[in-house]
Amino acid sequence: MKILVLHGPNLNLLGSREPGIYGTLTLDRINADLAELAIELGCELSIIQSNAEGAIVDAIQDSPGRFDGILINPAAYTHTSVAIRDALSSVALPAVEVHLSNIHAREEFRRHSYIAPVAKGQISGFGADSYLLGLRALVGYLRKGGR
Ligand code: DQA
Repeated sequence: MKILVLHGPNLNLLGSREPGIYGTLTLDRINADLAELAIELGCELSIIQSNAEGAIVDAIQDSPGRFDGILINPAAYTHTSVAIRDALSSVALPAVEVHLSNIHAREEFRRHSYIAPVAKGQISGFGADSYLLGLRALVGYLRKGGR
């Protein structure tokens, strides 16, 4: 089982970026924790971070036949990107949307996600654990035969 992990814009700054909101773990550390969990779950990860919307769309378009599912933190594009939403619905691979912060408990503009309606589910508010919970949820869904 192969999972594509996509991190959106500014997540490369985790560790120093607004630690009161996003915590102090770096993206490398989150990726290392995901890699460790992937071993436990018996899946393979490919991890991409990009600040560019088009690069994220390209990665999603390239995923059919190479991956079984997508774990995505679209970051700010969550709230703006019809293009990422359309790419996800076009490839129709199961996707789980994750956020470190609880987007529903923050500014009004963060409460709307263009991605949520085309994702299997959303996990928001558990810091770096959102990614680990999201990976468990996605692999569990796929193991039960979900598509
Ligand atoms: C985020 C929440 C978004 O609103 C924000 O733009 C981010 C990070 C999160 O993980 O909490 O960059 O996706």
